[in-house]
Amino acid sequence: MHLFLDTANLDEIAEIANWGVLDGITTNPSLVSKEKKDFKKLVKDICKIVSGPVSAEVVAEDMEGMLTEGRDIATWAENVVVKVPLTPAGLGACSKLAKDNIKVNVTLCFSVNQALMAARAGAYFVSPFVGRLDDINEDGCALVEQIAEMFHIQSLETRVLAASIRTPMHVQRSALGGADACTMPYSVFKMLVKHPLTDSGMAKFLADWKQAKEVVAP
Ligand code: G3P
Repeated sequence: MHLFLDTANLDEIAEIANWGVLDGITTNPSLVSKEKKDFKKLVKDICKIVSGPVSAEVVAEDMEGMLTEGRDIATWAENVVVKVPLTPAGLGACSKLAKDNIKVNVTLCFSVNQALMAARAGAYFVSPFVGRLDDINEDGCALVEQIAEMFHIQSLETRVLAASIRTPMHVQRSALGGADACTMPYSVFKMLVKHPLTDSGMAKFLADWKQAKEVVAP
């Protein structure tokens, strides 16, 4: 499962990119607004740091508007992926952009049937929103598993991109459930690498090393 950061913050992206495990970026209008920067320049700057897929979302609500925005966004960088919402207009835009070989991430997916429609429209990614389903007392990770299974049964090539991730357990269950990629906030990405036994193990190794050096030192 590929690991994506769900942020438009260049400092967060640069830091995690240095770890060598960052496969892509997703942004959305809320995340981009927080940065108070020019959208196009920001996406181009992100694409310079990360060579994997970088999702940038349209904000038009009608299909023609989405197509105009999507076709423009697709020229910003080689690795940019156009993000559209899972609405009738979004599906229509997806199918037309896909026919032009533009990669599309269909976002705001909350059901297996919605995911099926995104795949039939030629989506490169579909993004089930795990945390927002949990928020309404449903099991978001179960949806990721069901979509992955359905795509397998139906031989559909659209990739499952688990989104709206809030906890490391969401990441683990997405990986075990067959997601192709998982996009998470910086805070969750940082938590993935942490374990108290790694920290205490490191401290003990270094203390023993220092003590041994002191013993052999003249
Ligand atoms: O990738 C989608 C994500 O940005 C939504 O996350 O936490 O606002 O539900 P959240």
